Amino acid sequence: MDAVYQRCIHPHCAATCAVEETSFVCPRCGGLLDVVYDWDRLPVPTSLRAFEAKWAERTNPLSFSGVWRFRELLPFASPEKILTIGEGQTILQRADIVANYANMMPGNLFLQYEGMNPSGSFKDNGMTAAFTHARLVGARRAACASTGNTSSSLAVFCAATGLMRAIIFIGSGKIAYGKLAQGLDHGALTVQIAGDFDDAMQRVQQVSRRLGIYLVNSINPFRLEGQKTIMYRILEALNWEVPDWIVVPGGNLGNVSAFGKAFFELRDLGLLPRVPRLAVINAAGANTFYNLYEQQGLRWQEGKPNTAVSESYYRKLEADQIRASTIASAIEINHPVNLNKALRALERCGGVVREVPDQEILDAKAKVGAGGLGCEPASAASVAGLRRLRQEGVIGAEERVVCVLTGHQLKDPTATVAYHSADQKTFDQVLGQRGVKRATFANRAVQVANDLDEIIKAIEVYS
Ligand code: F0G
Repeated sequence: MDAVYQRCIHPHCAATCAVEETSFVCPRCGGLLDVVYDWDRLPVPTSLRAFEAKWAERTNPLSFSGVWRFRELLPFASPEKILTIGEGQTILQRADIVANYANMMPGNLFLQYEGMNPSGSFKDNGMTAAFTHARLVGARRAACASTGNTSSSLAVFCAATGLMRAIIFIGSGKIAYGKLAQGLDHGALTVQIAGDFDDAMQRVQQVSRRLGIYLVNSINPFRLEGQKTIMYRILEALNWEVPDWIVVPGGNLGNVSAFGKAFFELRDLGLLPRVPRLAVINAAGANTFYNLYEQQGLRWQEGKPNTAVSESYYRKLEADQIRASTIASAIEINHPVNLNKALRALERCGGVVREVPDQEILDAKAKVGAGGLGCEPASAASVAGLRRLRQEGVIGAEERVVCVLTGHQLKDPTATVAYHSADQKTFDQVLGQRGVKRATFANRAVQVANDLDEIIKAIEVYS
């Protein structure tokens, strides 16, 4: 057996396949796969602090990258095969204004801002890893279904490296304008399907299989290896102290799966004394994970989750023709492909799941903006979820919490402008239909005549 391979996540199956395999499903049972490392045969860092030394080597692109700086913890490709575009230069910011909104003590809430990535979302952490793997296997074309950020990331990586053709599947009218603009601008072949993300996800798997196109959705376990590094950077920014909670929005559940793997690998290597708890936040209009985990009690059960529960849930969605629907279009997903990995992550990290309505998502987003970091609606679900968990007393005011802001503010200007708009029609058109009743923290533009006195008067009144 090689020192790195892929293995079915279900312990009772545990079928393995080579690193080069690109089907991304277990050859025996069809389950999800992990990238597995035989650490007895690979160099293991002696301490997490050793990574700080890499800061001094920033002229080496692999040490500059916020992903590959940690390459010893995702050693599936030799350094000369790694493809990086400088992803992962992100910040962890102490956020007292947002802490106050969420009823946390000042100094205890941090926001991990992933909007600073080259394509404006956390996806670049995973894409550099998937791209590296794609190059390893000689892929010429890469595809994904997307609510807009995976597609933007793929388009950026293809454009920046010139190594592959990007083929992106999106639900017609389902992605925010900033993201649509990115795919088009970067030259991706954009396939608009008359359906939503869940439809597009099914189709892209069929098409990739049929045409032998490399798939970069988060069902691809190499993507998740890259996303582990978001947690390494958080730990590093906290001087390697483990926070009490990581709060993250949940869509296809790739992030929570990657975060869990990051932490239990570090613990198993003896590099971390304990793991934080994980909270996944669904939008109420796309709440499969909340429903299955919190309401129906679906659990990992050592690799034997009760699939009858999820199957009957999906059958009911189908029968009642229920489609995912939320202003947080990035997480407008009803069939999360990483469900089982997410169950495993929550079991090992003592996780919880919550749902938040669009009203709370947008109010939280406005507070994040007022605190100085812009994010898209889906990202703000993490803050809205934290606020709920504080109200319930699940998270204590004195605990140390990190909310992951997954995507940049400018990804979805439509939602932001509608929220702050003084024009009721604009508000109703974009938000009213979604049950959003009010813009609690709106910062409305002041309408004023093109007249010096009027302008001065307005400024005196409002400032
Ligand atoms: N936040 C943002 C901004 C996203 O774009 C996504 C997923 C998520 C959160 C959810 O992350 O899937 O790991 O649970 N966007 C995918 C896409 C589905 O196609 O861009 P997850």
